[in-house]
Amino acid sequence: MRYRRFGRLDYQASVLGFGTMRLPVIGGDASKVDEEPALALIRYAIDHGINYVDSAHGYHGGNSEVVTGKALAGGYRSRVKIATKMPCWSVESAGDFDRLLDEQLGRLQTDTIDFYLLHCLNNKFWDKLRGLGVLPWAEKMIAKGRIGGLGFSCHEEFADFRRYLDEYGGWTMCQIQYNYLDQNNQAGTRGLEYAASKGLPVTVMEPLRGGRLAAEPPPSVRAVWDSAPVRRTPADWALQWVWNHPQVTVALSGMNTMQQLQENLASADRAAAESLSPAELALYDRVVAAYREASPVPCTACGYCVPCPNGVNIPRVFEIYNESAFYADMGVPRYTYARLAEAERANKCAKCGTCEERCPQKIHTMDALAQAHEKLKG
Ligand SMILES: NC(=O)c1ccc[n+]([C@@H]2O[C@H](COP(=O)([O-])OP(=O)(O)OC[C@H]3O[C@@H](n4cnc5c(N)ncnc54)[C@H](OP(=O)(O)O)[C@@H]3O)[C@@H](O)[C@H]2O)c1
Repeated sequence: MRYRRFGRLDYQASVLGFGTMRLPVIGGDASKVDEEPALALIRYAIDHGINYVDSAHGYHGGNSEVVTGKALAGGYRSRVKIATKMPCWSVESAGDFDRLLDEQLGRLQTDTIDFYLLHCLNNKFWDKLRGLGVLPWAEKMIAKGRIGGLGFSCHEEFADFRRYLDEYGGWTMCQIQYNYLDQNNQAGTRGLEYAASKGLPVTVMEPLRGGRLAAEPPPSVRAVWDSAPVRRTPADWALQWVWNHPQVTVALSGMNTMQQLQENLASADRAAAESLSPAELALYDRVVAAYREASPVPCTACGYCVPCPNGVNIPRVFEIYNESAFYADMGVPRYTYARLAEAERANKCAKCGTCEERCPQKIHTMDALAQAHEKLKG
């Protein structure tokens, strides 16, 4: 296992962290964690050098924290830092802060949560929580030792991510989604570098894009990997790309089999910042291009088509639509599309044709928007 300094703290964090959002479950029911293998996985991870475990109030219907607490009993607690998250959407009054934290400390069987994150922070939650006094409350909890430090996880675009960093100087860490396909998505590389410029440790969620970068890729992508002089699994390629960034402190992965855990532990043994050669980095560019070419709309996100007179966020709709072609499971693309403001969705197209006149790629934008909406709605 390799370790990286966790910002200003006197703590060397394992480059691989254990994400407890994807524990083994019984009968496909996400709330029914299969305890025996889950406990074995978490303890094996710690015995092999992992010292950062990430949970949240809502994972596995609350049972992620419960199982994590059980796994850490018997001496394991003192060997790891625990991060868990406040469900921002469940907070209605200031009294909820204590209520939720008490519940989480109980589930985790601990007196202190090392890193307490505001989960999925966005502008709505940020304004609400600050209005309710979350920052002075958290500072009081830190003073009492119930929380080690305050952080946040975020899936918003860079400008919003930067806002949260700029508006509070007391963050201990932050968490973003980051992998080679998400360099310009959400906080992206700009966000990673901005957080690091403030001395903040960054933990990365979805380094394998929730597993999709570890699955068998489309043939054109497979051909690029096969042309590499070294042999790596798709998961290893994806993880090494994340760790190649010195600004990344911990890559979290949700591992639900021993094989996945052992493979990722072996990858973590080789993790090194700025270690990928220019030839290897060029391979990732080709892989990204191959994923893009496997896309139904040849949109390059040049932005000539916007502003749309009807407000449709055309490049973003096409980005989500294109990505939906890579994967059999439509859950994530549909979720992402649903998070787009209603006024920006493809069905707001009034077929005025302005976008088609402007598109340098000569895309039949109006038809493509209709197809995108049909596939992504629901
Ligand atoms: N704060 C937030 O909003 C937020 C959001 C997402 C995640 N997170 C946290 O970040 C953690 C990491 O995110 P993630 O779980 O999405 O990580 P990830 O590593 O991108 O995806 C994990 C999935 O990848 C697959 N996998 C892992 N290692 C593999 C290997 N060696 N070979 C083949 N497949 C492999 C498994 O998929 P299969 O199950 O298909 O086998 C596993 O469930 C989460 O567990 C959670 O703690 C936080």
